[in-house]
Amino acid sequence: MAIKNKIITENYALYNADCIEAMGEMPENKIDMAIYSPPFASMYTYSSSDRDLGNCKNYAEFLEHYKYVVKELYRITKPGRMNCVHCMDIPKNGDMGLVDFPGDIIRLHQDIGFKFWDRKNIWKEPLRVAIRTRQRALMHMQLANDTLKCRGALADYLLIFKKPGDSEVPVKKPFGLTEYAGDLELMNVVEKQEFLDLKEKFVNYKDDKTNKLSQFIWRRYASSAWEDINAQRCLSYKEARDPEDDRHVCPLQLDIITRAVVMYTNAGEIVFSPFNGIGSDVYAAVIEGRKGIGIELKESYWNQSVKNLKETEIVKQKEDDLFSTCNEKESSPDQLSEPAIERISEIMKYDYL
Ligand SMILES: C[S@@+](CC[C@H](N)C(=O)[O-])C[C@H]1O[C@@H](n2cnc3c(N)ncnc32)[C@H](O)[C@@H]1O
Repeated sequence: MAIKNKIITENYALYNADCIEAMGEMPENKIDMAIYSPPFASMYTYSSSDRDLGNCKNYAEFLEHYKYVVKELYRITKPGRMNCVHCMDIPKNGDMGLVDFPGDIIRLHQDIGFKFWDRKNIWKEPLRVAIRTRQRALMHMQLANDTLKCRGALADYLLIFKKPGDSEVPVKKPFGLTEYAGDLELMNVVEKQEFLDLKEKFVNYKDDKTNKLSQFIWRRYASSAWEDINAQRCLSYKEARDPEDDRHVCPLQLDIITRAVVMYTNAGEIVFSPFNGIGSDVYAAVIEGRKGIGIELKESYWNQSVKNLKETEIVKQKEDDLFSTCNEKESSPDQLSEPAIERISEIMKYDYL
C-alpha cells in the first residue's frame, strides 16, 4: 500500500496517500460524514503524479477517475449519513462557456446510489474574485469594451448527498444552534444588532423551542444562499507551496465546513475528507469536537496539514479551560460514550504502511 506518511492522534488521522487506494482499505459503513472540495477537473494542477485527479488528460477521464472516489465514499459512509461536496461551474477557455461541474457531480452521485439532498449557493464578492483570478470577463473595464464578454463572479456550491437507509442514531441539537459561523460584517446593520442582542440574551439557554438565538442562526444556515461566509477565514498555506507550483491550493473557508459538520454530525463522530489539502476539513471538524480523518496526495500540502492540525491542540486546550469554568459542551449520543480513541482505532487498525 502506497501510503507515504501518516500521523494518528486521539482526535485526527492524516494520511499522505492516494485517496482511492487508502479508502480501499477502510471498512464499510464507518464514517459519519464526508466533506471535501474535489480537484476541479483540470482547472488546477496540484502535482505531477498521475494519481492526482487534477492531472487527467481531459474532463471525461477526470469523471471516470472521480467515479472511483465516489464509489469508495458510498461504501465507507454509514447509511442515512451525508457527503458534502464543495464545487463550482468551471469556465472553459476563451469564449467557450462553462462546464456544469455541479451537474456532473450530482449525476455521478445519483448513479452510484446517493440521494441528492440539498444545495447551498455560496456568494462571492465580485471585486475580490476579479483581483484574485484576474479574469478579463469580470473586470469593470470590460463594461466599456463589450458587455457580451462580461461574466459575473460565479457562486460556489455545497452539494449535499445522503446515503440511503436509516442512521443508527439521530443527529440532535437539543438546545438548538448555539454558535454562529459566518461574517457579521456581511449582515445589514439591523440584522447584526439583532444577532448581538440575542447572543447576550440567550447565552447558555436550554429551551430549543423558545431559543431565538438558535432560530436566528438556523435561518442563516437553512437559507439556500449562504451570503455571510467569511472568505478570509481559511487555514494558512504559504509554506505548502512548492516552487514548481503554477497555482496554489485554494483552502476551503472554515465557516462552510463548520456549518456542515455542526448540522450533520454529533459531537465525537467521524468526519472524513479524501482531498484534505492543507487540512481545512479535518481542522474544522476537530475544532467542533469531532474526530477527523483526512487523506492528501501532495506531500507539501500534507506537511502543512500536519502543522495546521497541531494548532487545534492549542485552540482546544483554550476552549476546554473556558468551558470548564463557564459553559456546557455539546455532548455525544449515548452509544458513543466509549473512548473515542477505541472507536477511531477500529478504522485505523488497518496499518497502511
Ligand atoms: C481542491 S483541493 C482541496 C483543498 C482543501 N479543501 C483545503 O482546504 O486545503 C484538492 C486536493 O486534492 C488533492 N488530490 C488530488 N488527487 C488526489 C488523490 N488521488 N488522492 C488524494 N488527494 C488528491 C490535491 O493535491 C489537492 O490538495
